Amino acid sequence: MNKIKKIISLFFFTILFHNGIFSQAKISTIAVIGTGYVGLVTGTCFAHLGYSVICVDIDEKKINELKKGIVSIYEPQLTDLLRKELSRQKLFFTTHAEKAIKQADIVFIAVDTPMNDDGNAYMGYLNTALETIGKALQKKTIICIKSTVPIGTTDYAEQLLLSHNVSSDLFDMVMNPEFLREGSAVYDFLNPDRIVVGSHSFEAAHTIKNLYEPLLQEKIPCVLVDPATAETIKYASNSFLAVKISFINEIANLCEKTGADICQVSHAMGLDKRIGSYFLKHGPGFGGSCFPKDCNALLHIAKNHGVILRTLAACLQTNQEQRTVPVKKLLEHLVSLDGTTIAVLGLSFKAGTNDIRNSCAITTLELLQKHGAHIKAYDPIANNAMQKLFPDIQYCNSLETALCGCDAAIIMTDWCEFKQLENAPYHQIMKRPLIIDACNVLDCKNRFLQHFVISKIGKR
Ligand code: UGA
Repeated sequence: MNKIKKIISLFFFTILFHNGIFSQAKISTIAVIGTGYVGLVTGTCFAHLGYSVICVDIDEKKINELKKGIVSIYEPQLTDLLRKELSRQKLFFTTHAEKAIKQADIVFIAVDTPMNDDGNAYMGYLNTALETIGKALQKKTIICIKSTVPIGTTDYAEQLLLSHNVSSDLFDMVMNPEFLREGSAVYDFLNPDRIVVGSHSFEAAHTIKNLYEPLLQEKIPCVLVDPATAETIKYASNSFLAVKISFINEIANLCEKTGADICQVSHAMGLDKRIGSYFLKHGPGFGGSCFPKDCNALLHIAKNHGVILRTLAACLQTNQEQRTVPVKKLLEHLVSLDGTTIAVLGLSFKAGTNDIRNSCAITTLELLQKHGAHIKAYDPIANNAMQKLFPDIQYCNSLETALCGCDAAIIMTDWCEFKQLENAPYHQIMKRPLIIDACNVLDCKNRFLQHFVISKIGKR
């Protein structure tokens, strides 16, 4: 019966929509629950597109700082944009979730879904957000999930609200995944490759689609699907990119044996439009808060459905092994690391961020400690973050102090700053002129680098 009702309403809605009756639906206020990097970027960018946005978080200290325009995460353009929208009174911050939800026409959920010990996604924050929304709803509101969630979560969320006696007339559920890279999240939001909107409600799907109208004018495709498809698109996209990285890392390891040039191999592969040049950069493996978590979650979701994703499982295994390669390379040059001093250059999971979650540098630090090396670590912006995890190693405030007196240096993040090694005789301040360039940052033909022994992943 419900299905028939849905089909009839879809039919009438299609007619009304094409006559332009709903396309003008005016959105006055958006609430965003969760001010992590996804929530904060989403809220700020929607404010930038002209909407009135209230961002909510339970962390009072964080909200007070955000109200003053202080952003604790390092994300290019974000602070400037946020301050601009604060002063234009398009962007507000609060800890009063219910008040914000009551004012909103659309509530975005952008809370964390971290990885449980068993590899599944932890749904506690999402459930709490849904309960709060359920209690606060007074008028018809669209609830839109931005967080990366297991397939079936949007439908489960709907059922959860209904089971808490929230009337189905009060809400529509939508899944609208994000494809924001840390370090270029604002750029990615404003220049998307595609917008994905998943809902059973045609009207709600189009309202969310219309939110992005200023971007869609640039001919950016918007894919309207059902929620499970939207959830799958997000996991499959991240997993596919991770597979690309593991694949090129294995080819790099092969090139090391055969003498082929991995940079030329990946460059020429990328010129094939069917392959594409992105995410073909070899290195010490992938890290961050998304790829490892989402690949593991997709593996578990599939397993729960009796499906084995062999390619993805292999990708994760390859990545685990790849993360040990920099220290293995070091051991090829220094037979024992016991009592040596090693500079670790770069701690964040990639350049352009101070985020160290699942950073490959963590594996390197652990292995160096296990082998008894004294570690001098340096990152342009991530020293403080790593200090919380590794309080006992020595942190340096410049490249030069990190290198001083070291037996070797390992480059673990492709920060531009490390190119400085090409500009001066740094070999003179090291005990031994040995560099493991795990991120392929250095141009070995450079004259100052002639004094170094440089070992690269993928190169003989
Ligand atoms: C990733 C996706 O790229 C975003 O589209 C997605 O929205 C986001 O996850 C998320 O799910 O929230 P992010 O984790 O910020 O974004 O970083 P990426 O730029 O994708 O890099 C991930 C890891 O892969 C890094 O460790 C990076 O160094 C590594 N990588 C990337 C490579 O080793 N080679 C490459 O060619 C590209």
